Amino acid sequence: MKNLNTPYFMINEQALIDNLEKAKQLKEISGAKLVLALKCFSTWGTFDTIKPYLDGTTSSGPYEVRLGHEKFGGETHAYSVGYSNADIEAVKPLSDKIIFNSLSQLEAHYENCKDSASLGLRINPEMSVAGQDLANPARAYSRLGVKQDLLSLDVLNNVDGFMFHMNCENKDVDAFIRVLDHISTTFTEYLDQLTWLSLGGGIFFTYPNYPIEKLGLALKAFAEKHSVQVYLEPGEAIITRTADLVVSVIDIVENDKQTAIVDSATEAHRLDTLIYNEPATIREATKGATYNYVIGSCSCLAGDQFCEAQFEQPLKIGQKLHIEDSAGYTMVKLNWFNGLKMPSIYFQRVDGDIEVLNEFGYEDFKATLGK
Ligand SMILES: Cc1ncc(COP(=O)(O)O)c(C=O)c1O
Repeated sequence: MKNLNTPYFMINEQALIDNLEKAKQLKEISGAKLVLALKCFSTWGTFDTIKPYLDGTTSSGPYEVRLGHEKFGGETHAYSVGYSNADIEAVKPLSDKIIFNSLSQLEAHYENCKDSASLGLRINPEMSVAGQDLANPARAYSRLGVKQDLLSLDVLNNVDGFMFHMNCENKDVDAFIRVLDHISTTFTEYLDQLTWLSLGGGIFFTYPNYPIEKLGLALKAFAEKHSVQVYLEPGEAIITRTADLVVSVIDIVENDKQTAIVDSATEAHRLDTLIYNEPATIREATKGATYNYVIGSCSCLAGDQFCEAQFEQPLKIGQKLHIEDSAGYTMVKLNWFNGLKMPSIYFQRVDGDIEVLNEFGYEDFKATLGK
């Protein structure tokens, strides 16, 4: 492999295909359709690999709708927490389904959209498997979706489908099935009249040893019971463990602990490490080995670090480190904070070829701030 300049993301096509094969298996068992959640991963240079396996895309804002329509095809689902009239004009001609977040949004846009797309409504099931409160759609006072006590059967005159999203990296199939049962019993009269139902994302069915068959059969039974076409909206499950963020050690400083400063920052290139305080994993590290380092970011934020890790040998200036599992919610959140060099995006094909999906420079930084 030629000596690429860091920082860069390296997406591995074979790892992507391995996840997609599991998605295919789940589809075959369950009869569910799967649409890629572009909020998690929108790196469209990889879409030709993904397209044969999935049914389309879903979105969280108008530009994702357009990207899904232009670059992925299949079914385009449009969802947003809030659509302005201008947003609706933009997404209407591109969307197969438009899902509203509230009854007031449905009312505001119903007449305008009813003949263009199949309409849906997001429901808050008031139950979730979501780890941190920040990412819990059923948290107190949640603005995401309509609670049951605000619904009446009249809504079925205006929508064909519901969308529930209440999981975040849920690896526990039994916990998912409990939520599914809750939805099935709480919303029975609605479900029996809907033509489609999306159960959102956050189901970690590509996690090692995840019981795909059990999930698939539960979804199939649910779909048959309510005569409804089920959709899932996976993001992370499709791209988990498919990309490294590759960085170089720029400096090593000491203040009670040794910190290796690398040419990247969580705040700019791997934001969720910071937001959710979830340490990254370094491929070159060995847990418990002799040489301990904080892997520190090159940003000005005092607490900005990737993780603390141990190595068999002392780290050296110029050495590359691979920050694993860096595909989801990273490239879509890249920003220019501190004027740092933005990571290039490369795609390692199954045959070993490395395709350049994008490289960035000073002109790109400048262009985001004026012209
Ligand atoms: C409505 C909706 N669908 C799908 C997803 C994708 O979730 P994940 O990437 O965890 O599978 C999310 C994530 O926040 C979401 O809010």
